[in-house]
Amino acid sequence: MREINNVRYYDILEIAEMFISGETEDTIRNHLETGKLKGKKIEEEWYAPKENIEEFVGKKEGIKIFFTNPQEINLNNINLNGRILDIGGGGEGIIGQLKGDNVVSIDFRKSELEEALEAGDIESLKIIMDAKDLKFLDNTFDMVTAFFSIMYIPKSDHKKVFKEIYRVLREEGELVLWDLKLPKKTNEKKEIYVIPMKIQMKNKKIITGYGTRWNKEQDINYFIELAKTVRFKIIEQELEEEYFFLRLQKI
Ligand SMILES: C[S@@+](CC[C@H](N)C(=O)[O-])C[C@H]1O[C@@H](n2cnc3c(N)ncnc32)[C@H](O)[C@@H]1O
Repeated sequence: MREINNVRYYDILEIAEMFISGETEDTIRNHLETGKLKGKKIEEEWYAPKENIEEFVGKKEGIKIFFTNPQEINLNNINLNGRILDIGGGGEGIIGQLKGDNVVSIDFRKSELEEALEAGDIESLKIIMDAKDLKFLDNTFDMVTAFFSIMYIPKSDHKKVFKEIYRVLREEGELVLWDLKLPKKTNEKKEIYVIPMKIQMKNKKIITGYGTRWNKEQDINYFIELAKTVRFKIIEQELEEEYFFLRLQKI
């Protein structure tokens, strides 16, 4: 990304991250060269401003999308141990890819769990299950993770999901949560809010994006309050530009 006269220009790799359906660097270069995506060459490299990318991607995906600045997460030093339940573990199956057969990944969409398998999460145990109604006994897991998945669950169900997570965690077990800062809607025309993401783990870098309908607000304080209502203790919190990280403990 380069900033010229207060305008942020994104390069081809960064543009590729903003497509939900996946688009290769070659096709994006072609769109830029043919003028379908309006950009410009700076020092022999193609760039395009965010507004043009949003418009172009929006047309291709058939929906109006707002993109945050791309974010990077390094999971190499994350402390996750024991038997782990991953909530909404479909999609990229990031926690499954990271922790393999220590993980039970649940998702209420079979297709999302199949997608995770294709994305390289081959070892986690995948079960079709609703996070609102976990089919496990109390005190079953050492840790529960939710990697950009609570943002996909309606707010009216959050308390139920947190209660279920609390129930299946063992005493002193931890809920480790990454989620999106979703501000009040500022642009009435944009329907979807997307966070483009580079995830670094082991020896690979995963480029993806997580998007949700822009019809609600949430931030770290909302989750801290929610956690307290189900008696979680907050043991770690980090606020990044577009997302946050929380580690909560069952007491
Ligand atoms: C896109 S994924 C989030 C990213 C994912 N954790 C990863 O590693 O890439 C969010 C998932 O949550 C799932 N989901 C939404 N509501 C759910 C619920 N009530 N119970 C279980 N899964 C749910 C969706 O089907 C979706 O696959």
